[in-house]
Amino acid sequence: MIELAWRTPSEWAARAAEQPLALLADHAHCELKAASSAQALIARNPDDPCGVERLAVMAEEEMQHFSAVARLLHARGGVLGPLRPNPYAEGLAQAAKEGRGDVLLDRFIVAGLIEARSLERFRLLEERLTDPDLVELYRALAPSEAAHQGMFFDLARRRAGQGVADERIETLRLREGRVAESLLFAPRVHSGVR
Ligand SMILES: [Fe+2]
Ligand SMILES: [Fe+2]
Repeated sequence: MIELAWRTPSEWAARAAEQPLALLADHAHCELKAASSAQALIARNPDDPCGVERLAVMAEEEMQHFSAVARLLHARGGVLGPLRPNPYAEGLAQAAKEGRGDVLLDRFIVAGLIEARSLERFRLLEERLTDPDLVELYRALAPSEAAHQGMFFDLARRRAGQGVADERIETLRLREGRVAESLLFAPRVHSGVR
């Protein structure tokens, strides 16, 4: 497990838990995006059979997560609503443009960092939420997101070699922490606390 460079205070989960429908709608969009990103990475990495197969499994898992989150959202009277700009993902994409060598390497690393941050947030939500179905959702998702995180860093190391990959992981790990810390609060999985 990678250690995040900035740890989210529990205050974030307390605030996010006050708006469960908005949080679930954003979360559902995150799962959908994770599935589509996995598919896009297959198309960009077609010559690595191991990577292709692992990403295909991951895309299916993310769609299962999407279905589970959407069902809970709908059962509570919420709707998915429009996809909105994501300042966290945009901040990471911007950070990765600096000092970039290999675009695909950076995509694997950024995807791994997003999984790691998601996992951190799911654990905070599991502790804070009181709705038993939502507590169970966040408890159930954690192992899968932990595995995805490990898979992306493994794909990064397979692609670039351990030394190059680890150096870039460290650079982007620090940048991810600064991005997350700088964000305003919103009832979204990857918001900040400001
Ligand atoms: Fe997921
Ligand atoms: Fe995931």
